Amino acid sequence: MYQDDLIASDITAYLEAHENKSLLRFITCGSVDDGKSTLIGRMLYDSKMIFEDQLDALESDSKRVGTQGENIDFALLVDGLAAEREQGITIDVAYRFFSTEKRKFIVADTPGHVQYTRNMATGASTADLAILLIDARRGILEQTRRHSFIASSLGIKKLVLAINKMDLQNYEKSVFDDIEADFVEFAEELAPDIEIQAIPMSALEGTNITTRSDKTPWYTGPALMEYLETVPVDDDRLAKPFRLPVQYVNRPNLDFRGFSGQIPSGTVKVGDRLKTLPSAKETTVTRILSGDKDVQEAMAGESVTICFADEVDTSRGDLICTAESPAEVADQFQARILWMSEDKMLPGRRYLLKIGSKIVSAQVNETKYKIDMSDLQDRPARDLALNEVGVCTLSLDQSVPFDPYNEIRETGGFILIDRLTNNTVGLGLIDFALRRAGNIHWQSVDVNKQAHSAQKGQKPAVLWFTGLSGSGKSTIANALQKRLFSVDRHTYLMDGDNVRHGLNRDLGFTDADRVENIRRVAEVSKLMADAGLITLVSFISPFRSERRMARNMMDEGEFIEIYINTPLSVAEERDVKGLYKKAREGKIKNFTGIDSPYEPPLDPEITIDTTAMTADEAAEKILDELKAKGILEA
Ligand code: ADX
Repeated sequence: MYQDDLIASDITAYLEAHENKSLLRFITCGSVDDGKSTLIGRMLYDSKMIFEDQLDALESDSKRVGTQGENIDFALLVDGLAAEREQGITIDVAYRFFSTEKRKFIVADTPGHVQYTRNMATGASTADLAILLIDARRGILEQTRRHSFIASSLGIKKLVLAINKMDLQNYEKSVFDDIEADFVEFAEELAPDIEIQAIPMSALEGTNITTRSDKTPWYTGPALMEYLETVPVDDDRLAKPFRLPVQYVNRPNLDFRGFSGQIPSGTVKVGDRLKTLPSAKETTVTRILSGDKDVQEAMAGESVTICFADEVDTSRGDLICTAESPAEVADQFQARILWMSEDKMLPGRRYLLKIGSKIVSAQVNETKYKIDMSDLQDRPARDLALNEVGVCTLSLDQSVPFDPYNEIRETGGFILIDRLTNNTVGLGLIDFALRRAGNIHWQSVDVNKQAHSAQKGQKPAVLWFTGLSGSGKSTIANALQKRLFSVDRHTYLMDGDNVRHGLNRDLGFTDADRVENIRRVAEVSKLMADAGLITLVSFISPFRSERRMARNMMDEGEFIEIYINTPLSVAEERDVKGLYKKAREGKIKNFTGIDSPYEPPLDPEITIDTTAMTADEAAEKILDELKAKGILEA
């Protein structure tokens, strides 16, 4: 799903080298202490893998790893970061390729401690099977349940319960039986159709890894590698409707125009009718190129270039579909979201959403509930913390093509990216589209913004004051408004304390509430700008993300960020409303600067140092700067 081009091309080359063997993609999950790396090392070392020369071709793009044993030398580690890095996104998943006589394998190896879940989810999104490592001494942990949940949500239907470190439990049958029974009970709740194979093992001693060991005479099932080599993998991708997310448009000269990408599902033949989304134009396939060879047909897993009979407006990020059964197009969804960041997911905040090769701006409208991993029950929730899974509604700033995740994984999954840090912060699986708005159009009015500003003889502006509580925002904004008023400017002052008595009286001071507070205030300021007013907005507005959102909502040059820079020590010393004292005594929670963060502006239009001047002087200074910047007429 989120594979980059490098991985895609490497996988293709690798698969061609072992064309006649079936492929199993799997992932290993478990905490570092559970013996995950020992197990992978064991599998690679013990399985007498076959290495063919063709793999050398991959070397230039990949790193060879491992010297633990002579056989491991040919396990390849492809650096999964490359294309993600291009977007500034970091996900650490290494794909190791290996093969035995019977089958070839791709294991998504997901290192790391803190970010483990997120790496795991990325790896799982392309896997057929997950190996869940359990420490026999500890049994099923919350972590095990979480990983099973993620694996199953991502469409994995086969789980190997690798009950490891059995040597430390004297290979006792009852230990194994208890853990297996425990897990089966949980899995029934999770997904009744999931296949579970529990295997007692010791990765350290090599028990039941490649061959069944006499240390567990009571165990009659297969050894791990036996199971992995023989478990049926049905590639159901071929039976699904054809999709091709356009990675790039190939136009070497005026006579050739092709659309390139990797096929996630279905098959395509020359002469097929296709539909491109979101433009919804139909056309016929005239050529299919695999590398520089013309082919008649191509199928899921292959990278191709397709040419059309007609000039159809298609670009990177679009989705080419079979005309018979095209994907949907929508700008609102319900989705399951796995949150992967230390910073909570906040409804109302804007994130980038990447689906296929398309990136759009999105916001979570509402968290409907979150899923408690201990019992899989729904719990009420507003926001999502690290590793939490919730069901949310999202809206996008433009429509994108998609399939529900349960139908086609590759076109139904997305990631959420923080706009400021560029980190991947969430993983989403689309449940279905929400039909908003089809019937609500933007009403254009004849007396528009231009007419309003012309009537008032001024350019609208949003003067956005930000700073700590007690920094002096309101006092200075008030002094400035008086000056503007006296020279017949049409103004309005919105102040946190006042707006929180009316429009926003349902909001408190959690991060989620502050985001919503600022979102509403930004929307109102936009309306006021539309009415031609000069609006002064005085809110702590502690987060860069929402100040940036407000800025982006206004016309170019209209948003003026005024940072009232008063050090915490000074604001606290003044303590005009006595709130800092209460906050220090623990009587007020989430107080900005005490136990809730303030992110100072990095590049405000105007900065006021209130330790160096009075409120009136500050107002004068702002007035001068507004004139100097051409926002007010001199
Ligand atoms: S914001 O963070 O959401 O922008 P806003 O400016 O609306 O805050 O409201 C801040 C005002 O609410 C403060 O000036 C103060 O008078 C009052 N207040 C009450 N509790 C808090 C709190 N926990 N943190 C900050 N301000 C608080």
